[in-house]
Amino acid sequence: MDGNGRWAEQRGCERVDGHAAGEDAFVESVRAAVDGGVTWLTSFAFSTENWRRPRSEVDFLMRLNRRVLRDNVHDWNEMGVRVRYLGVADARIPEDVREEIAAAEELTRDNGTLTLTVALDHGGRRDLARAARSIVAHGVPADQVTEETLAGHMQFPDMPDIDLLVRTSAEHRLSNFMLWQAAYAELVFLDVLWPDFRAEHFSQAVELYHRRRRRFGDVPRPAEPAAAVSAGA
Ligand code: IPE
Ligand code: MG
Repeated sequence: MDGNGRWAEQRGCERVDGHAAGEDAFVESVRAAVDGGVTWLTSFAFSTENWRRPRSEVDFLMRLNRRVLRDNVHDWNEMGVRVRYLGVADARIPEDVREEIAAAEELTRDNGTLTLTVALDHGGRRDLARAARSIVAHGVPADQVTEETLAGHMQFPDMPDIDLLVRTSAEHRLSNFMLWQAAYAELVFLDVLWPDFRAEHFSQAVELYHRRRRRFGDVPRPAEPAAAVSAGA
């Protein structure tokens, strides 16, 4: 979800106003995912590198994340959304944010329409380091560590690989997002700044995805099965 700061700058507002304006885009994306039959949606809300930002902006983002969750979790629950948070490891995350997250995860844990994963305090490299630590802690012998072992020691082992990864605001980077799961993701870069992102952009990204020919290193085959979409934004 990139471009909040530039959106605000274009309007002569503060950066934090851009973050606040991103709420509608986020809420609409969740709805678009449910309406479009997407079953996994992951949203990059705050990275392990975002802690470098000014304290006031970080505080604002933490409070905003808590409020957006509190204001929407009941709607999401009624829509059958299971909410989960990826990351959330840093001690600087305020206690009330953690409590809100725990309550939302508990409330929605049995829902099956869409798994909405919010990557908050997330870093792909840290996830991999964490999985490595877990493997060692479980005493897995080195010669038995396979790709499946690593996948099984990620924070959410049931998470599928990313099919479609959408980045907004004309930036062309992965920025340490879900490096393990993004190995074969189809990358879609849109010029739209995150606060302007709407269901039509969501559909546009899915449409671009469906035009891609995914071969996973193989050669083209006559009948390629249509893949289900799980999106990472
Ligand atoms: C994304 O918008 C929001 C977060 C990283 C939390 P930015 O704040 O990165 O916006 P730009 O890149 O400065 O426009
Ligand atoms: Mg940015």
